[in-house]
Amino acid sequence: MSEDKTPRGALDRVLTVEVMRVTERAAVSAARLRGRGDERAADQAAVDAMRRELNRLHIEGIVVIGEGERDEAPMLYIGEAVGAGGDRVDIALDPLEGTTLCAKDMPNSLATLALASGGSLLNAPDVYMDKIAIGPGYPEGLIDLDMPADEAVRRVAKEKGVPTAEITACILDRPRHAELIRLVRETGAAIRLIGDGDIAGVIHTTDPIETGIDIYIGSGGAPEGVLASAALRCTGGQMQGRLILDSEAKVERAAKMGISDPAKVYRMEDMASGEVFFSATGVTDGNMLAGVKFARNYIQTETIVMRSSSKTVREIKARHQDMEKFS
Ligand code: FBP
Repeated sequence: MSEDKTPRGALDRVLTVEVMRVTERAAVSAARLRGRGDERAADQAAVDAMRRELNRLHIEGIVVIGEGERDEAPMLYIGEAVGAGGDRVDIALDPLEGTTLCAKDMPNSLATLALASGGSLLNAPDVYMDKIAIGPGYPEGLIDLDMPADEAVRRVAKEKGVPTAEITACILDRPRHAELIRLVRETGAAIRLIGDGDIAGVIHTTDPIETGIDIYIGSGGAPEGVLASAALRCTGGQMQGRLILDSEAKVERAAKMGISDPAKVYRMEDMASGEVFFSATGVTDGNMLAGVKFARNYIQTETIVMRSSSKTVREIKARHQDMEKFS
């Protein structure tokens, strides 16, 4: 983690609007390339727009979770300084989460950004992370990464007061999850298999009525885990993650980022500890957010933007008539 230089409470709540603007712009740029079968182009468009907007903010930002290490990502790499000067903040970003979803015009691709007081976001390497998450309203400690998935599903069902058949778990559709899927199916619970996009998968647990998802389980990207934790810090809920460091090279990479215990289970407060702002704008239509809509005279975006200190969650549908700003 980077050094904390930000006085407590220094993040101005006006930033809520500013972080929203950043993800709106990234989402619009990516959405212009929806369904074109070109993941790289869509991602690049989102990266360019996000970087441009971040550099307008009155912050002294350091990218903690970004597009990759400095030698593999020309822009928004880990350690890159962004912003026009101001409070020292940590930034976690995924300008286009679900690049394949966007390229195929499938549901739930998002532009995402978390901004936190300096030194409060986990500096996670780009490896896999085992994750488990549930939304708000459950007793602390109800689920645990080390408990079998069927046990976690049963506990959630009991606490919700429904049979396991009325629980839906969200899992990335990957061969590595075959055993996990078998275990969850044994409980009678439903499984929403997603092709990509586990930040959305985790966030969806916070609003089961809207999304139909009660619990997220499985492994996905560690950077996505930090971003999802930042979101859950704002909405409430529980999440745990453990880096999958299954080679010496990965252990070494993690060590260089300050991770000395490769087996550590991170709670969401460990991944995003300070004051956090989180924003996600829909690129393609999804369960919580509609995708960008291009009308003749305006562009419409839907964004969820939130703040950990007040736990306010705002869903903002915006019509942008000054379309030149988005070109
Ligand atoms: P990208 O947006 O980088 O394509 O990531 C999509 C994603 O599905 C993430 O949401 C998830 O954490 C990760 O990829 C899973 O990785 P893999 O596809 O290797 O299983």
